[in-house]
Amino acid sequence: MLPFHRVAAEDFAAVNQRILDQLHSDVPLVENIGHYLVEAGGKRLRPLLVLLCARACGYKGESHIDLATIIEFIHTATLLHDDVVDTSDMRRGRLTANAKWGNAPSVLVGDFLYSRAFQMMVALRDMDIMAILSDTTNTIAEGEVQQLVNAGDPAVGEDNYFTVIHKKTGALFEAACETAAVMANCTNGEQTALKLYGRHLGLAFQLVDDALDYRGNPEELGKNVGDDLAEGKPTLPLIYTMANGSKDQAQLVKEAIEQRSAEKLSEIVDAIEACGALDYTMERARAAVNNAKEQLEFLPNCEQKLALQQLASFAVERSV
Ligand code: IPE
Ligand code: IPE
Ligand code: MG
Ligand code: MG
Ligand code: MG
Repeated sequence: MLPFHRVAAEDFAAVNQRILDQLHSDVPLVENIGHYLVEAGGKRLRPLLVLLCARACGYKGESHIDLATIIEFIHTATLLHDDVVDTSDMRRGRLTANAKWGNAPSVLVGDFLYSRAFQMMVALRDMDIMAILSDTTNTIAEGEVQQLVNAGDPAVGEDNYFTVIHKKTGALFEAACETAAVMANCTNGEQTALKLYGRHLGLAFQLVDDALDYRGNPEELGKNVGDDLAEGKPTLPLIYTMANGSKDQAQLVKEAIEQRSAEKLSEIVDAIEACGALDYTMERARAAVNNAKEQLEFLPNCEQKLALQQLASFAVERSV
């Protein structure tokens, strides 16, 4: 548990219980895969955002527990699908579900989790929340497809990259915060502020994820590094190197993207370090986090607000 989880510890225990209850299926394979991934933990940042935003806005009910569970189920479903499309074999310090059970069960259990999330959403009986979350899942899927199209293409530029990371990652952070604000009956202005907090936080989170894919420690991260290069993904560290590195550095990166090969990973890590591409990526992440924090100004001083600020700082300082 990270320090800022403590503020919501009681609510979190309820979310963990709800997750286990809602994983129920008559088909044992569904439960096995669901439990395998959920029990490995993960940082649970998105459900925490729901809990903190709801309480920071003065929400007094209990439906935020369901909302947090829904958001974590959507996230978990995207991870199951993501590891198939990224052919990754480590997640949360364990073999990925696709490495353990194969692609078909991973895709299908991902679908189960998505649809369970939608069943729970309907039970909330709130059309505004349903609209936000159905748009969000659609946006995530679109972002993942756009990224797939970009793979192997060294001509992808920064704007395209930022569109992809907003869609595939920013959107769910954004939805977690916005739906919590809707549930708490915040004003439109307050909903927008929390939505933007989530958006910028999500962008920072993915920027750092993309930097860590080159310089992270797999033991700490619980997932492999170098997977992005192996997929030929033009992420910001590579885009920056192609635009600002030496001719040789740019060529090295261009070829690796085209060949979708991590064979020269260590040379590429050296190149992106040397030309300042990782520093640039982290600078962009820090700017996004500052932007996120500014959105919190309207909130009254409370422990949840402080936790939201700390969570934003963690997004750039993290090594996990
Ligand atoms: C992984 O998200 C997917 C990305 C958006 C980079 P997290 O790093 O939040 O995954 P868990 O839930 O903590 O494992
Ligand atoms: C994750 O992006 C985005 C979604 C899960 C939709 P990545 O593919 O970079 O996530 P990791 O690095 O595998 O966790
Ligand atoms: Mg991945
Ligand atoms: Mg991916
Ligand atoms: Mg990644």
